[in-house]
Amino acid sequence: MKPFSQRVRQITPSATLAIDAQYKQMLKEGKDVVGFGAGEPDFDTPDNIKQAAFAAIKKGQTKYTAVSGINELKDAIATKLKRENHLDYSREDIVVSCGGKHALMNVCYALLNPGDEVILPVPYWVTYEEQIHLAEAKAVLCPTEKLQIKARLIEEAITPKTKAIMLNSPCNPTGSVIEHAELKKIAKLAADKEIFVISDDVYEHFIYSDEEHVSIASLGEDIRRYTIIVNSLSKTYSMTGWRVGYTASTKELASLMGNLQSHQTSNPTSIAQWAAVEALNGPQDSVQLMKKAFGERRKFIVKRLNEMPNVSCLMPAGAFYVFPDISQTGMTSMRFCERLLKEANVAVVPGAAFGDDKHIRLSYACSLENIAKGMDRMETFLKQHGQP
Ligand SMILES: Cc1ncc(COP(=O)(O)O)c(C=O)c1O
Repeated sequence: MKPFSQRVRQITPSATLAIDAQYKQMLKEGKDVVGFGAGEPDFDTPDNIKQAAFAAIKKGQTKYTAVSGINELKDAIATKLKRENHLDYSREDIVVSCGGKHALMNVCYALLNPGDEVILPVPYWVTYEEQIHLAEAKAVLCPTEKLQIKARLIEEAITPKTKAIMLNSPCNPTGSVIEHAELKKIAKLAADKEIFVISDDVYEHFIYSDEEHVSIASLGEDIRRYTIIVNSLSKTYSMTGWRVGYTASTKELASLMGNLQSHQTSNPTSIAQWAAVEALNGPQDSVQLMKKAFGERRKFIVKRLNEMPNVSCLMPAGAFYVFPDISQTGMTSMRFCERLLKEANVAVVPGAAFGDDKHIRLSYACSLENIAKGMDRMETFLKQHGQP
C-alpha cells in the first residue's frame, strides 16, 4: 500500500492519551479514580445561553451561515473587544471558527510558509507545536524563567527566519500570566522586527490577582498590526462542546482565513453561533461565579501540594491549572503519572506533554471535595514512594 500523508503521520500522539485512556478504563471498571486531567470548567453552560440555542432552533436558524460567522456574532465580538480589551475591530477583521483550536489552525495555515520559525515558550500547550508542524513551519522552543515568559529569552531565540511568537497568557499548563513590563518589551521587540504575535487569550477571564488581562494588541498601533488575537467561548462560558472560537486580526489576514475556512469547515454551527451572541451580550455574572470558585480552589490545591514531600508548586496567577515540580521524587513526569494512577487512583497529566519533564499538570476545574480527596491520596503516595 502507498504511504499515508507524511504531514499527518508526523504528528506525535499526545503523551496524555495513554494516561487518559487508563483513567477512563478505570472509571468504566467502577474504580474510584480522582481526575485532575480535564481542561474544561466543571460548571454547566449558563441557562440563558442554552435558551438562546433553543430559540435559534425554533426560529429555523439551522442553515449555512456566512463562512466567517453571522454579523450579529461578529458585532458581539467587536463589542466585547472594545468593552474588555479597549480595542476597535470591525466585522471584516473577525473570523468565527469551530473553537479556539480551529482558529489557531487557520492562523498557522494563513500565516506560515514552509521553513518559517515560530517561537514557542516552554512549557507550551502541545497543540501549538503540532499545528506549526502541520503548516510545515518550525517551532523554536524558548526557555522561560520560573515558568514566566521573558522578553530577553524570546529575543535570544529570534533568527532571520522568525515569523511569529506564540503567546498564551494566562498559560496552559502553568497558569502564569505575562508581567505587564515584559509584555511591553515583547510588543516593542515584535513590532521593531516585524514579527507577528499570535496571542491566545482563551483564559483571559481567569486571572486571580488584581491585574486585568492586557491584550498585547492594545499596547500601540505598531504591535496591533502584527497581532492576531485568538479567543474562544469554551472556557469563559463553559461552552467547550459548542465549538465557537474566533480571531481578530488585520482584514487581509482575516480574508485569507475566511477563504481557507470556506474550503475546510464552512461556518461554525449556526445554533452555537446564536448561543454565542447571547453569551457575549447577555449577563456576565456566571463568569464571575466560576472565577471566584476557581480562585478558592487554587489556593487550597497549592497549599496542599506544597505540604507534600518532594513537591513544590508556584502560585499560578491565572487559568485553572497548577504545575508543580516533582523532579525531587527522581521520577520522570510520565513515570510519576503512571504510578500515581495505578497506585493511588489519581489521574494527572505529565509535564512531558508540554515539553517539561520536571512538572506535572493538575486542573482544579473540579469540586473542592474532589481536590481534597485527590490531595490526600497523592500525599500518602508521596510519603510512601516519592523519595528519589
Ligand atoms: C491554551 C489553549 N488554547 C486554546 C484552546 C482551545 O480551546 P477550544 O478549541 O475549546 O476553543 C485550549 C483548550 O484546551 C487551550 O488550553
